[in-house]
Amino acid sequence: MTNAMNASSSSNSSSSSNSLHQTFSRSTIANSLAGKSVVTLDDISTAQIRMLLDKARYIDSHRKEVAHTCDGRVLATLFYEPSTRTRLSFETAMLRLGGKVIGFAGAQLSSASKGETVNDTLKVVSNYVDVVAMRHPKEGAAFVATQAVSTPIINAGDGGHMHPTQTLADLATILARFGRLNNLTVGLCGDLTYGRTVHSLIETLCRFGNVHFVLISPDELKTPQYVIDRINDTPSCTYEETRDLMEVIGNLDVLYMTRVQEERFTDREQYLRLRDTYILTEEKLQKAKLHMPVLHPLPRINEIAVDVDDDPRAAYFEQVKNGMLMRMALESSVLGDELCGYEPTDFVNVPEDELQAVDVHGISLADSRVHVTDVNAPENLTCPNPRCITNSELTLKRKFYKADSVRHEYRCMYCDEESESK
Ligand code: CP
Repeated sequence: MTNAMNASSSSNSSSSSNSLHQTFSRSTIANSLAGKSVVTLDDISTAQIRMLLDKARYIDSHRKEVAHTCDGRVLATLFYEPSTRTRLSFETAMLRLGGKVIGFAGAQLSSASKGETVNDTLKVVSNYVDVVAMRHPKEGAAFVATQAVSTPIINAGDGGHMHPTQTLADLATILARFGRLNNLTVGLCGDLTYGRTVHSLIETLCRFGNVHFVLISPDELKTPQYVIDRINDTPSCTYEETRDLMEVIGNLDVLYMTRVQEERFTDREQYLRLRDTYILTEEKLQKAKLHMPVLHPLPRINEIAVDVDDDPRAAYFEQVKNGMLMRMALESSVLGDELCGYEPTDFVNVPEDELQAVDVHGISLADSRVHVTDVNAPENLTCPNPRCITNSELTLKRKFYKADSVRHEYRCMYCDEESESK
């Protein structure tokens, strides 16, 4: 929801955004991500998400043809937090496109350990590379990077906030299983508070519409209000909350399991009490629909027993492969490097019903959901989120946007938390 916001991009009326889409040719869409940063998938349009899915499918069947797409390019992977899949897939993606990679895997191996800020690090690294993938424990860190430099920044996870490229992998997996991204009942189970992949997935599925979300978590790990508001703002989407996976498993078209995020807890006792709340087994899966894919961003700890791996519904290793393909599509797109032989298919055309769909505030669901910097935001606002980067890098200028919802007046532009008055 955070975004590069400016007054000129504030044309949130459905009529203006629809006419914009109608003038897009397929080739325009194919090149439209050049130079863009992606903090959240709200930064890009539905047509652009469709184009990335389309490109990933092409890449998978044209590995040799695309092998020199990014010759001469350099990617930096700045990972201040541990990662296996995301960092290695970003790097593999660039190598498979012909480019090169630099970076660090752990803040302790960088000058962040000496106190260097994200802003300064990006102003340095942007001299070396053409694109940056960054993971950071603080919410809003990727947004800080986009404000520091013009080099495309891809958010590889910012604290418990967002993980847009995992969502691209999730969308590709759901699409492969169902041939669609809407008219689905999607269960999300586990740590819905700190599970950033859940937040990104919900906000994006809302844009495709007609999704019923079943939010399955202990009371201590419920979905944040800004994500719930997003569902409430989408007329065609609904949700229910429950603690009981087995009560609802038979209703689900998709089950998205998540790990309880140990690293985000301040209370170790609470983590130990909650970590094994849900353990999906083959026996429990007997109550689920025969074609209900089980997704998980991984790593898993106990929440999916290994006996599920052999079930055809287990889709989590497919997600891993799709993650690499989607990152190949995204990296080449933000660099403006055309994939040899790629022609957009009909899939990139946003269907008329998606094009016409607006949220309860009249904002197009097909468009990038840019917010407007509210220059009249009260001076005395502060972000109460202790995990927000504005509360650790104190020289950052605090920014707030006027929330769409009536109940929440202003939200922090870095982490989407509701503001408080000082
Ligand atoms: N899915 C995911 O983000 O995995 P890693 O933490 O290993 O990158």
